[in-house]
Amino acid sequence: MHPLFFLASLLSTALAANVGVRPGQIKSIVTFGDSYSDIVATGDQGTAWPVYAAGYSKTTLFPFARSGATCSNNITFRPFPPVFEDQLPLYFTETGNGSIHLQPEETIYTLWIGTNDLGVDSLITGSNNASVVDVTACMVDWVRTLYASGARNFIMQNMIPLELTILYSPNSYPNRFWAVERNTTDWSVLMREMVLTGNALVKLMLQQALPSLPGSHIAIFDSHSLIQDMFNHPAKYLNGTAPLNVTGCWNSCVAPFGGGDLTCTVANGTDRDSYLWADELHPSEQADRIVAREIALTLEGKESEWSTWLN
Ligand SMILES: *[C@@H]1O[C@H](CO)[C@@H](O)[C@H](O)[C@H]1NC(C)=O
Ligand SMILES: *[C@@H]1O[C@H](CO)[C@@H](O)[C@H](O)[C@H]1NC(C)=O
Ligand SMILES: *[C@@H]1O[C@H](CO)[C@@H](O)[C@H](O)[C@H]1NC(C)=O
Ligand SMILES: *[C@@H]1O[C@H](CO)[C@@H](O)[C@H](O)[C@H]1NC(C)=O
Ligand SMILES: *[C@@H]1O[C@H](CO)[C@@H](O)[C@H](O)[C@H]1NC(C)=O
Ligand SMILES: *[C@@H]1O[C@H](CO)[C@@H](O)[C@H](O)[C@H]1NC(C)=O
Ligand SMILES: *[C@@H]1O[C@H](CO)[C@@H](O)[C@H](O)[C@H]1NC(C)=O
Repeated sequence: MHPLFFLASLLSTALAANVGVRPGQIKSIVTFGDSYSDIVATGDQGTAWPVYAAGYSKTTLFPFARSGATCSNNITFRPFPPVFEDQLPLYFTETGNGSIHLQPEETIYTLWIGTNDLGVDSLITGSNNASVVDVTACMVDWVRTLYASGARNFIMQNMIPLELTILYSPNSYPNRFWAVERNTTDWSVLMREMVLTGNALVKLMLQQALPSLPGSHIAIFDSHSLIQDMFNHPAKYLNGTAPLNVTGCWNSCVAPFGGGDLTCTVANGTDRDSYLWADELHPSEQADRIVAREIALTLEGKESEWSTWLN
């Protein structure tokens, strides 16, 4: 081998060895996002994935994600506590006043956001002047902001195929999240385009940001492919006692057009684990257990089919 090639391959081995976190390194997980990760107002009405992930990986959880959140209310306003104007400030207050104390080396930060930013009363209904470009730039700003404060390890959970949720599927019905008449085909097509575009952008923007984030380790967690795989191959993931169901939800409620009393069909107990969706917008607890299992593998420095370390 030419000495230069030898040097180059040594160097790339050394760099590759430095990709991702090491087994045993991570002791704390700090979560940001919306109802998909909120551990109090849980989207799945069960135990939220961060609680499972911390349990599976024997790490300490610091949960900041809040139901209804967008990335920033400056971009996509909704009357809920957003990542930038509420969750991050609380995190900085608590780290600043010593009520929580985290070692950057031993801590990993996660963000799962976008569902409300792209959804009803926001991008899909033309309720603001923002675009998916602004929303994804905000996701990357979350990394930059935490990095500037010393954080080094990150998992960016990309957006799920929202067009598969009942709210945004072509075969939708009026429900608790949206009871105004709309063209469900149009919504589904638009949502699919926005999610795919946003996920591609966030990956490119993160890759572009890497040189300005030396010493960081950033994984993209491909929630999109994982949920799509659950949809395509439910028997690999769902294990409840009802027939497996990826098109409906266990808490399905039809609203009259214009809003009003909901008519609900509710599955109970172990039947719920047969469903991909808890309601018209949220993955089920069983789907979230799988997310938790794979996030746990990632932060433990093990191989997950759904995670890619960028550096
Ligand atoms: C939101 O707007 C306020 C007021 O203009 C500004 O101080 C803040 O930096 C903005 N936040 C983001 C994330 O752009
Ligand atoms: C730190 O700030 C948090 C959030 O405002 C507050 O709940 C907590 O009591 C504060 N702790 C101290 C020691 O000041
Ligand atoms: C969008 O921008 C236009 C022009 O600045 C403004 O008139 C309009 O109120 C904005 N719409 C929303 C929903 O913020
Ligand atoms: C809904 O949109 C689709 C695609 O744009 C169109 O083909 C269909 O006719 C629309 N349906 C209604 C009821 O307007
Ligand atoms: C399904 O599997 C999960 C582990 O992924 C387990 O916690 C749960 O109890 C199982 N559900 C049923 C109904 O067996
Ligand atoms: C799935 O669940 C929904 C209830 O949300 C029900 O209407 C539908 O018939 C179920 N589909 C299958 C294939 O069992
Ligand atoms: C689930 O429990 C609720 C409340 O007890 C009940 O109304 C509903 O009929 C149950 N669902 C099924 C499918 O048995």
